[in-house]
Amino acid sequence: MKKRAPVSRSGRFEHGPAADVAQFTESISFDWRLWRQDIRGSTAHARMLRKIGVLSPSELAAIEKGLREIAGEIEQGRFGWKMELEDVHMNIEAELTRRVPAGAKLHTGRSRNDQVALDLRLWLRDEGSGLLEEIRQLQTALIRLAERHPGVIIPGYTHLQRAQPVYLAHHWLAYVEMLQRDFERVTAALDRNNVCPLGNGALAGSTLPLDRDFVARELDFIDAKGRPRVTQNSMDGISDRDFAIEFCAAAALQAVHLSRLAEDLVLWAGSEFNFIRIDDAYTTGSSLMPQKKNPDIAELTRGKSARVIGNLTGLLVLLKGLPMTYNRDLQEDKERIFDTMDTVRATTRICAAMLDHTTVKAEVCARAAGDPSLLATDLADYLVRKGLPFRQAHHAVGALVGLAEKTNKTLHQLSLDELKTASPLFETDALTTFDLAAAMERRNLTGAPGSREVRKQLARWRKVLGA
Ligand code: ARG
Repeated sequence: MKKRAPVSRSGRFEHGPAADVAQFTESISFDWRLWRQDIRGSTAHARMLRKIGVLSPSELAAIEKGLREIAGEIEQGRFGWKMELEDVHMNIEAELTRRVPAGAKLHTGRSRNDQVALDLRLWLRDEGSGLLEEIRQLQTALIRLAERHPGVIIPGYTHLQRAQPVYLAHHWLAYVEMLQRDFERVTAALDRNNVCPLGNGALAGSTLPLDRDFVARELDFIDAKGRPRVTQNSMDGISDRDFAIEFCAAAALQAVHLSRLAEDLVLWAGSEFNFIRIDDAYTTGSSLMPQKKNPDIAELTRGKSARVIGNLTGLLVLLKGLPMTYNRDLQEDKERIFDTMDTVRATTRICAAMLDHTTVKAEVCARAAGDPSLLATDLADYLVRKGLPFRQAHHAVGALVGLAEKTNKTLHQLSLDELKTASPLFETDALTTFDLAAAMERRNLTGAPGSREVRKQLARWRKVLGA
């Protein structure tokens, strides 16, 4: 005889599930995290039940008091979660009912199906607003880093080959832009998330005169004009997880952005680039090689994007074959959502801290940015200004690059006579092209890495971020 879990499941069943079944189906080991939201949702539901006359004032008071006490015990780690009670919803409700007889009325017009949908939406809203704050802090850390080293110029790269000079600040600002789009995507996902599913029951609403708008207001599911927002189709309302997938998609893209930033930091902290120094506190050593200082935080930032991408894929696959409406498969959504939130929030925070503990090696950057071939395009532009079609200018400068290579010189060491072998349009002023400071003054289109434009962009972001 298999051991049975000692739970009594309503009149339909003669005995509880086998112990291994309880273990297989439980979600309390992870969904206990929804307790705050579950209690907030139950309180709002109870107040509505009072409003429509299902609960008396004293019953409501007893339920609210009971829920408050349970919340206090959970908070202090004194609450005894029971695996046999499957999930956070049943654990809290069963304990409430044990203490307060009116607790048995709390589930009126409610199913765990709309309850869990509600809890998840509340949880995403709570945690998501924390993430938004952290994205802001990371953007601010990038701006601070840019402003700590204002004049530093580095080679910008394409194909990981030196291409054209850019202010290092411009490079950091590129990530500020990416994070801004992440911020907007998370904000939009949280806005679509902000609709109340309670009142949808198991799948088909309720025959009782529940006041859905009242519950929505109680729980701040309101639009910009303060009107309640409730789901408009009960079947969709309980089985929809778009809100979670949308959030996980936005978070996965943010994780990819952080991963790219991390890759830059890994490269730049290495001896080959050597552009930056990450403070000891944000690196680790090797157990074998005494000289090693490894950028593990950046590497893990890059690595952790993998699980966040996996979580998104997992949720999409979880949903794709589900018939309407609730299916127990949906219980598998929580760990993916929790893990995405935890991972992206922690990564965003640690990246901000790491950037605050990163310094730039200005001389190394200056040496790299001093490579005159970075201004080969500027030399072609010089010829364009003299009237030469760009294709021909490109060809002429290409020939000069070849000549410099052959004669073992750098591009700016070529004489005027040598320049003239490529084009008669070169005059003495051609050599001023290689003045890097002047070159940076010339790049002032909107969005370009020129001195004036970068200052302008930094000022704009400082204002947006209130930094
Ligand atoms: N623990 C369940 C979940 O996470 C709650 C909903 C259970 N509903 C049900 N009909 N068994 O999805």
